[in-house]
Amino acid sequence: MPIQSFEGKIAFITGGASGIGLGISKVLVERGAQVVLADLRQDHIDHALAEFAGGGRSNAVSALQLDVTNREQYREAAKKMLDEFGGIDILVNNAGVGLEGPLLEATYADYDFGFGVNVGGVINGFTEFLPQMVAHGRGGHIVSTASLAAEVVMPPQMAIYAASKAAVCHFCESAKGELAQHDIGVSILLPGPVKSNIHETIDNRPAHLREGSGFTASEKKLARRIVGDNWMEPVDVGHLVADGILNNTTYLVTHGMYKDAMRARAQAVLDATPDRMEVVDSFGNYRDEE
Ligand code: NAI
Repeated sequence: MPIQSFEGKIAFITGGASGIGLGISKVLVERGAQVVLADLRQDHIDHALAEFAGGGRSNAVSALQLDVTNREQYREAAKKMLDEFGGIDILVNNAGVGLEGPLLEATYADYDFGFGVNVGGVINGFTEFLPQMVAHGRGGHIVSTASLAAEVVMPPQMAIYAASKAAVCHFCESAKGELAQHDIGVSILLPGPVKSNIHETIDNRPAHLREGSGFTASEKKLARRIVGDNWMEPVDVGHLVADGILNNTTYLVTHGMYKDAMRARAQAVLDATPDRMEVVDSFGNYRDEE
């Protein structure tokens, strides 16, 4: 069954101890789910659990430290969820890093870091949790956090980030049709500016990818960025996500401010597309229609 209520549902939220992930966690807890915050940063976990401690449903929240790029660790986390909860109902692939810097200075360490967390983390989530979500037969839902950066042509220095988020978006769009037969819904979260700690990306970089990075100066600059007062509150994103899960909404978009840029990009692709129709033969090869 697709998710119809959060009562008694088990949700696993990566990057769940800060920013958008924490906002989603708070709303799912408030609406009756049992939530596990899976996060790289113990300081974020401690801070998040302290926030829940005063509330009425604090026993509905637990946490585990997880680096979503570490497949062994991820497998253990999925097994733990199976052993302790009989498997999860909702997966939120939300952990991400805010990579930016001049392309000419980018090294493989920067590509591996950006794609490793933002794309690899999502792939690892699908790979480790799908089998148990299909096997328990209760159906469920997978939300993955991309970005509106996937839907517009981004300004300079954002190529790696934009590409990583576009990969998440297209992966999930395609996965949705395939998972429907197992009653597993799929949503893609496309946020604009939301209050969070994403400017701390430099602290989330593992030592082996810090070495040789060409983005150190850019990440130090990002670390000084001030969160805007008018950026969206993470809890508001949480409500959008919760409603999206119940309705199995494909695209969960937080802001309308990039609509013109989104339209311009889509229109440019359409404008470049010939009107000629092609057909596919029975071997899957394209050929021009006579
Ligand atoms: P945040 O930094 O406040 O939260 C991200 C959490 O992910 C942190 O707690 C961090 O410790 C954790 N994390 C980082 N690397 C990890 C790893 N390898 N394994 C496990 N956990 C890891 O940032 P925010 O903004 O809440 O980010 C959440 C998602 O939203 C990201 O995917 C980000 O790209 C996306 N996003 C954020 C926007 C914003 O304006 N805040 C806009 C568009 C997308």
